[in-house]
Amino acid sequence: MSSSRIADAVARRRTFAIISHPDAGKTTLTEKLLLYGGAIHLAGSVKARRAARHATSDWMKLEQERGISITSSVLQFEYRDHKINLLDTPGHQDFSEDTYRTLVAADSAVMLLDNRKGIEEQTRKLFAVCHRRRTPIFVFVNKCDRAGEPPLKLLDDVETEFGLRCYPVTWPITDGGRLLGVYDRLTRQIHLFEKDTHHGSKQARTRQAELGSDEARQMLGGTAHDALVDDIELLDAAGADFDRDAVLAGELAPAFFGSALTNFGVEPFLNHFLQMAPPPGPRPSTEGMIDPLDESFTGFVFKIQANMDPKHRDRIAFLRVCSGRFESGLVVQNTRSGESIRLAQPQQFMAQERTHIDEAWPGDVVGLHDRGSLRIGDTLSENGPVHIEEMPRFSPEHFARITVRDPLRRKHLDKGLRQLSEEGAAQVFYATTHAGPEPLVGAVGRLQFDVLLHRLKNEYGVEARLENLPYGHARWVTGPRDEIDRLGGTAGRSLVFDSKNRPLLLFESEWTMRHTIERHPDLQFHDVAV
Ligand code: G4P
Repeated sequence: MSSSRIADAVARRRTFAIISHPDAGKTTLTEKLLLYGGAIHLAGSVKARRAARHATSDWMKLEQERGISITSSVLQFEYRDHKINLLDTPGHQDFSEDTYRTLVAADSAVMLLDNRKGIEEQTRKLFAVCHRRRTPIFVFVNKCDRAGEPPLKLLDDVETEFGLRCYPVTWPITDGGRLLGVYDRLTRQIHLFEKDTHHGSKQARTRQAELGSDEARQMLGGTAHDALVDDIELLDAAGADFDRDAVLAGELAPAFFGSALTNFGVEPFLNHFLQMAPPPGPRPSTEGMIDPLDESFTGFVFKIQANMDPKHRDRIAFLRVCSGRFESGLVVQNTRSGESIRLAQPQQFMAQERTHIDEAWPGDVVGLHDRGSLRIGDTLSENGPVHIEEMPRFSPEHFARITVRDPLRRKHLDKGLRQLSEEGAAQVFYATTHAGPEPLVGAVGRLQFDVLLHRLKNEYGVEARLENLPYGHARWVTGPRDEIDRLGGTAGRSLVFDSKNRPLLLFESEWTMRHTIERHPDLQFHDVAV
C-alpha cells in the first residue's frame, strides 16, 4: 500500500460532532449538511425515515415511547473533495455518557446556538468535554431568520463564559429584523438569499457581490448596506486577524450565522468549516503519539450499541480508525485482552443506511459486529500492543439504589450490572453497609436508567427496581485515605466505590461540593475517572 493513499485519505477527511442543547436545531442542521452533501435530495426525509425505522427494534420502541433518540449514529457523506464523518449525539435532555464519549472520537466540534437562547445547560456540559481535550470548536448561531439576541452579545457570552475567543467569519445582514443574507469576512462577499419557495427543502439560491460595490448597495438597499458597512468596520477594528493555528489549538472559534431551517448561511459555513477544521491528527497512546499516516492499523472502540436488531441480539461496536488502512477481514489484536480478532462484516453508516464496507481510513468510524469480546475504550491494532488514550468515565449526575424483586436473582443482577457497566451502559458503585456492599447505579442522563432496567429484564431476566437518591453531583477523590473516609458520613455527602474500588464522593448540592473542595485542600477532586 502506498503511504500517499493514506495521506490523501487523511487530508480529505473531517470527523466532527455537533454540540448543542435540545431544540437549537441539530437535527435540522444535520439534515441540511446531508442535503448539501448530496446524501439526501429533499430535506425532511431524515425525520421521516427516523420515524419509519421506529418499528424495527426494541431500542426504537423505547425511543418511540419516550419520543427521543437514544442512540448516536454516525453519518458519512461527501462534499466537494471531502469525506465527512458526522458523529451525531443524542439530543434530548436525557442524554447519556455516549454523548460525551462520541466527542472523544471527534476531531472538531460545532457548537450550535439558538440566537434567542445563546449558551444553554447542555452546551456547557459538552463544551467542557471538548475544552478538556482542546478540541477545535466552531460556533454556528442558528435561527437567525427570526429576531434574536444581538450577534455581538452572543459571541461575547461565549468569550466570557467559556474563555473562548470568537472570530465571526460570517455576519448576518438584516433589514428591519428580516435576514437578507450573510456577509463573508474572509472572501469579502455578500451572500444575498433569494426568496425560498421550497421551505428549506432544497439548497438556498444566492446572489453574491463584493461589500463595497455598487451592486451590493443596489442589492441590499442603502440603509441595510450602510448598517452592514458600519458593523464590518467595527468588527475589523475591534478584533484580531484570523489565526488558524489558534483555531487548531482550540483557542479561537470561527463563528457563523445562519438559519438551518431556511438554509441561509449553511453553505458558506460548510465551505469554511471544511477548510479550517483539522483532518484526523495524531492520538496519544502508551507507545507515544500515533500518527494517522502510520501504515499499520490502529483504532479504538468509543461506543457499543446493543440489540439493534432484536432478531439477532447483536451488538455493534463503533470503532474510530486512528491510523493505517482498515480492511474487511483484517486480523488485529485487542490490547486489553490480548485476543486476536478477525474484523469480519464491518459496516459503515452512509447517511441513514448501514452498508457493508471493504476499507476505511483514519477518521472513519466502522461498525463491528461483536459477541461480547469488545469493551468501550479497547484499542485494536495490527502491530503489537498499544493503548490509545483511555476513554474517561464521566461523573454521573443521577444516582439510584438498585434492588431486585426476587432475591434469588441477585446473582443475575450482579452479573448484569457488571457486564452492562463494562459495556458503558451505566456506572455501578458500591456503598458500604453493615449488610455488605450495596450496589448503586449512576448515570449522566436519566434515560440511561430506563435503558438499564430494560436490558436487565430482556437480557438477564432480572426485574430490578430503582430508588432514586438525592445526589446530583459527584467527584472521584484522591489523597489521604482517612480524610476521605471521614468525609463519607457527613451531612449531604456519601462515599461510594466504583468497580475499580476508587472512592467517589456524592454531594446533594453543588454548594456542598464546592464548599467541601475548598475546605479540603489536601484532597484532589476529579470530574472524570481515567
Ligand atoms: P434539535 O435536533 O437540536 O433538538 O432541534 P431540531 O432540529 O429538531 O429543531 C427544533 C425546532 O427548531 C424545530 O421546530 C425546528 O423546525 C426549529 N428550527 C431549526 N432550525 C431553525 C431555524 O433556523 N429557524 C427557525 N425559525 N427554526 C428552526 P419544531 O416546531 O419543534 O419542530 P418541526 O415541527 O419544525 O419539526
